[in-house]
Amino acid sequence: MSLLVVEGIRAGYTEEVDILQGVSLRVERGQIVSIIGPNGAGKSTLLKAIFGILRPREGRVLFDGEDITGTPPEDVVRKGISYVPQVRNVFPSLTVQENLEMGAFIREDDFTDRIEEIYEMFPELRARRHEKVGRLSGGQRQMVALGRALMLDPKLLLLDEPSAGLAPGMVEMVFGKIREINDRGVAILIVEQNAREALKLSHHGYVLAMGKNALDGPGQELLHNEELARLYLGGV
Ligand SMILES: Nc1ncnc2c1ncn2[C@@H]1O[C@H](COP(=O)(O)OP(=O)(O)OP(=O)(O)O)[C@@H](O)[C@H]1O
Ligand SMILES: [Mg+2]
Repeated sequence: MSLLVVEGIRAGYTEEVDILQGVSLRVERGQIVSIIGPNGAGKSTLLKAIFGILRPREGRVLFDGEDITGTPPEDVVRKGISYVPQVRNVFPSLTVQENLEMGAFIREDDFTDRIEEIYEMFPELRARRHEKVGRLSGGQRQMVALGRALMLDPKLLLLDEPSAGLAPGMVEMVFGKIREINDRGVAILIVEQNAREALKLSHHGYVLAMGKNALDGPGQELLHNEELARLYLGGV
């Protein structure tokens, strides 16, 4: 059974317009799957529809065999999906430690050990645990966002443009962390402008264009697809 199945989703922000016009995809357990495509294709909208921020008008979202279509975000997180939005994914006026604690908002058990694990994964954050996140670099803020999303020990992580706006060295660091998180058994569905880098570490990739599935295949195959390279990867 696939971990995540999205079947024929139609969704939009107003009654009149369907931004997503019947999109389907799958994420198998332990996989990294990327969604690429031009600006405005509906990539962020798709993540919002999976996470329950937008209620699909048609289609289904199955997680771990359970129909979660239209389930609100606060219940979706309880089922094991965490989401890191494209913007405003940290609380800048709170410290690193407070941001991580906020990530555990629905945990009633002692999560001290989990915070320690997160600091082991991101040693730079431990050193800055009492600093306000607004004072950190873009790369460090992205680590806080990832760490916060991991506090609930999700089975699936939804990441919207985690490398956007970062310096090249930081982009590499973020992709390295994503691979490390995946090595620990967390499946990842990632939206990326940095399509080439994302496909390199993806088991499978989907190209979305104008709210529809355009193409999909194993990451390595898409990397070597000439049409895709011409359209979305900036040449072969
Ligand atoms: N909150 C919103 N209200 C109304 N329309 C929206 C909203 N957010 C996005 N849209 C519209 O939905 C369409 C798809 O946007 P979406 O953000 O999903 O694209 P995207 O593929 O993530 O693009 P980008 O690469 O620029 O992040 C766009 O036409 C956009 O203008
Ligand atoms: Mg987007």
